[in-house]
Amino acid sequence: MIPKLELHLHLEGAAPPAFIRGLAAEKGVDLSAIFDPSGAYTYTDFPDFLRVYEAATSVIRGPEDYARLLAVVLETAAAEGAVYLETFVSPEFCGGADRAAWRDHVAAMAEVAARLAPEIESRAIITPIRHFGPERARKTALCAAETASEDRSGWVAGFGLGGAETYGEPGDFAWSFDCAREAGLGLTCHAGEWRGPESVRAAWRDLGVSRIGHGVRAVEDPALVRDLAEAGVTLEVCPGSNVALGLYPSVAAHPIARLADAGVRVTVSTDDPPFFHTTLRREYDALATAFGWTEDDFRRMNLWAAEAAFCDEATRARIKEKLGCST
Ligand code: ADE
Ligand code: ZN
Repeated sequence: MIPKLELHLHLEGAAPPAFIRGLAAEKGVDLSAIFDPSGAYTYTDFPDFLRVYEAATSVIRGPEDYARLLAVVLETAAAEGAVYLETFVSPEFCGGADRAAWRDHVAAMAEVAARLAPEIESRAIITPIRHFGPERARKTALCAAETASEDRSGWVAGFGLGGAETYGEPGDFAWSFDCAREAGLGLTCHAGEWRGPESVRAAWRDLGVSRIGHGVRAVEDPALVRDLAEAGVTLEVCPGSNVALGLYPSVAAHPIARLADAGVRVTVSTDDPPFFHTTLRREYDALATAFGWTEDDFRRMNLWAAEAAFCDEATRARIKEKLGCST
């Protein structure tokens, strides 16, 4: 199996439906409306997806639930060939941005990550939710900065921005990103998914990120594509997510190959796999079928992912070795 890196995965969005149903039953919450008759998550469009996502997340409560979820997610990814994974985690869901509660959540999850590290190494990207607004993002940034300095395991490694890209401007979140940067965290931001290239440029310019979540609509502006390629900005591309949410009609119509051909550092992730009926292996298989990508193409892409990962240098060297690349 091809060894894989996954840089863009939402922890709650990776929760299997059966896991969420189990928690809902434990807590006496009726979540039947978010599942279809086959038991899969059901939603109509992106805003509805966010609503269903938040409803599912509402039953993941406390450090113990989050630790169980992380274990399931890491074991599932490892079975798909993932050797390294970064997951988005939001203090706005884990502990309601209360700093003491957040610290307990991080301790429980970092313990799971350390236990599973021989199989799959992982890091967390702390994530405010864009449509919850900049004020709440500041609290999230403070949570992130505090745990980045306290968490000796290094599991808290990045800071990102998810949620509805149509809400506000990246610059509205500059204070939070500055705070995270000062705490030594790697920076990424969802952009170029629900808005066009100007949104990618604004995230890059106004937040100083080294990676863009999705970023695929940069393809609509050739000058931006050139600039991203020249600067070595890494895109966390999630083709199956984009197709499931209706951005593109098929993987064959997806711009990932055009971006790669233009020299942009693209990587492949699943975003919220059970919501989009995808897995890492399915993504690789679909790309191989659509574009004829070979093991060498995937190795080069995974090397870009290793170079863009928010981990320490010793971990990066270990991952590169697993990819069959020396330093
Ligand atoms: N949160 C979970 N999945 C997301 C996506 N695809 N875009 C923005 N925010 C998200
Ligand atoms: Zn995402």
